[in-house]
Amino acid sequence: MKPLSSQARAIKPSATLAINAISQDLKAKGVDVVSFGAGETDFFTPDHIKAAGIAAIEQNKSYYTSSSGIAPLKSAICGYLDRTFGLKYENKNICVSSGAKHVLYIAMRVMLNPGDEVILPAPYWVTYEEAIRMCGAVPVILNTDESTRFKISPEQLAAAVTERTKCVILTNPSNPTGMLYSEEELSGLAKVIVDNDLYLIDDEIYATLVYEGKFVSAAAVDPELTKRTVIVNGVSKTYAMTGWRIGFAAGPAEIIKLMDTYLSHSTGNASNIAQYASIAAYAGDQECVAKMHAEFTKRRAYFLERVAAMDKVSCLPPDGAFYIFMNVSKTFGSTLCGEKIDNADDFAQALLKHGLVATVPGAAFGSQNHIRWSYATSIENIKKGLDRLERFLNNEPTA
Ligand SMILES: Cc1ncc(COP(=O)(O)O)c(C=O)c1O
Repeated sequence: MKPLSSQARAIKPSATLAINAISQDLKAKGVDVVSFGAGETDFFTPDHIKAAGIAAIEQNKSYYTSSSGIAPLKSAICGYLDRTFGLKYENKNICVSSGAKHVLYIAMRVMLNPGDEVILPAPYWVTYEEAIRMCGAVPVILNTDESTRFKISPEQLAAAVTERTKCVILTNPSNPTGMLYSEEELSGLAKVIVDNDLYLIDDEIYATLVYEGKFVSAAAVDPELTKRTVIVNGVSKTYAMTGWRIGFAAGPAEIIKLMDTYLSHSTGNASNIAQYASIAAYAGDQECVAKMHAEFTKRRAYFLERVAAMDKVSCLPPDGAFYIFMNVSKTFGSTLCGEKIDNADDFAQALLKHGLVATVPGAAFGSQNHIRWSYATSIENIKKGLDRLERFLNNEPTA
């Protein structure tokens, strides 16, 4: 048989989903694994949003919609962006699709030609690199570390620009590091992006989950940057709605129009029912967001207190999102619970095998020294997982 698409065969499967699969498999076999792999909250979708979804089913909202979403949802998103972040958009600037992940891919599809370069600061969320390659474009990785709080500088960005550079991707706050760019930092980057005639994709999916500092959208710092920025966001993290699959892009009307056309020949519209539920999310009571934020704040504080008391691992306090990006490099070259640890992959595998704790090794995010823990799980689970980590670091296996 003729070989399948070489581009498709080159795609690496998502490491975070792979870790989830391993831990679910172990759990199914009765093994008591504590999982910190998931990039989704453990909360249920708030009741008023569920009710709107049920009402949409009962009102027979079961037909196709416009490929880029229904007008009342676009209006609700515009209202939300204005109230929450001071961003002024109209319906023609909004494209709704099946999750932020899909929106991001479609945005790249309409922006990029094969061979275009996309600047991607590392550590990065696993999907970007593959999505860039799926467009036939070339990821240009900018490495960062704790010394700059995992953020790129205008100088670093400018030095990476070539005549093939088309676009820069930022995630603010970041998955996996949790770091947040300030308004001043964004203004510095904006100048380089505008001066070099580039586009910006700013993934703001964690924008409401900020604990230190103030979130400012890249689209709000400089009107020249706004003209070339596509914001990516969605209901998944803010409203505990990962499975409903609604994300949106907000950006220049020409880009949004092309995205609509692209969608019309690929997925068509996102679920009509989920779109109605999302109106309740964006236009309804925001008390649920505050409640989840308060819970994450407690979990983060507990996590940081525990890690501060450990000497073989460390982490920077994350500004936002719900991840701890733990540096485990002090253990490299040592043996833990009988396993030789030479890199973060070894650490994560040994911790899963002997500590029964599932985390995601940093290689998937472009970092060799870290593992990612999601604290979108109960305080009891966090305590149990960190107790096990402590024992593992003391060479005492749980399993
Ligand atoms: C940075 C970032 N962007 C986008 C997404 C995807 O969100 P959605 O569930 O809306 O596709 C995730 C999910 O983990 C993420 O971490």
